[in-house]
Amino acid sequence: MLNLILSTMTQDRRLPDPGRNKPFSSGGMVLVTGANGQLGLELRRLLSPQTTLFTDLPELDITSAKAVRVLFEEYPIRACINAAAYTAVDKAETESDLATRINVEGPQYLAEACEAFGALMLHISTDFVFDGKANKPYGTNSPVSPLSVYGQTKAEGESRVLHACSRAIVVRTSWLYSQWGSNFVKTMLRLGAERPALGVVSDQHGSPTWARDLAGALMVFLEQELTGEDFGIYHYANAGTTTWHGLASAVMAGAGLPCVVNPIQTAEYPTPARRPAWSVLDTSRIQERFGLPIPRWEDSLKECLTLLLNSE
Ligand SMILES: NC(=O)c1ccc[n+]([C@@H]2O[C@H](COP(=O)([O-])OP(=O)(O)OC[C@H]3O[C@@H](n4cnc5c(N)ncnc54)[C@H](OP(=O)(O)O)[C@@H]3O)[C@@H](O)[C@H]2O)c1
Repeated sequence: MLNLILSTMTQDRRLPDPGRNKPFSSGGMVLVTGANGQLGLELRRLLSPQTTLFTDLPELDITSAKAVRVLFEEYPIRACINAAAYTAVDKAETESDLATRINVEGPQYLAEACEAFGALMLHISTDFVFDGKANKPYGTNSPVSPLSVYGQTKAEGESRVLHACSRAIVVRTSWLYSQWGSNFVKTMLRLGAERPALGVVSDQHGSPTWARDLAGALMVFLEQELTGEDFGIYHYANAGTTTWHGLASAVMAGAGLPCVVNPIQTAEYPTPARRPAWSVLDTSRIQERFGLPIPRWEDSLKECLTLLLNSE
């Protein structure tokens, strides 16, 4: 089932002919980069292919300033959602040049093109820009202090986007999962089916977020008239807080897997990249400005598990 959906989606990879799309796009088109990633695939469900350019490698490499510019010259782009990213947190520790090109330079080129063509730049970032030393949810104005190369590149990317484009929105999210690609929820389902017991870190706190909910939330920025004070940084994550151990336990319970999940400390599970012990995001700005209800992480996890378990 999963393979079938993905192969259907790869047929959409070719960019539409600009001439053919212009009659449908008097309000302009939306450019989605990284459209084959977790968030990108959820955005495909919400945006019309007639008025959206869904791109990923190889059609559009965001690290090519020229390719980005040409696309903006060719299509009447009114908004860009940058869902493209280098997301291999541990690998980034040894691939910092590549991570920088994708997470810093690419977003800057997109933001510069948005500025030049009067488009909205909607960029996605991460809770990993914080060091996790706080004891209350991070506000959108909290100072960043990343612990990892991935976090550093994402923090620098945010800053470049906000400087390059006067109509830029940065949405930080956390602990993203979906039916697609690889993520913690899918790893737990696989390991839970293979093993009688697992040790999972219980001293890192955050909010698991279903990519489908994030994609839906991003629509408010396309649908509403934005004015000067609306631009800048927002946080979006599913409501409620847990640990990786709590999330793993909920996955096993939701999937009816008998695997026992034992709590372990971060020190017992060393990884190349350091991760924040506390990365809970304060989502009040997006809720208050747009009246956006945010589902609890347990409810969204249940929905996503239903989709995952029925697609096997
Ligand atoms: N995943 C998480 O837990 C998490 C948590 C917090 C925030 N975020 C942020 O949320 C956003 C979406 O994350 P995600 O999980 O949907 O990411 P993802 O699944 O890794 O998707 C990223 C997509 O970008 C593509 N890409 C990589 N380099 C590119 C380039 N040079 N030009 C164009 N496309 C390129 C990737 O292609 P390849 O697969 O071929 O490389 C992939 O299809 C990112 O900004 C990420 O930093 C993610």
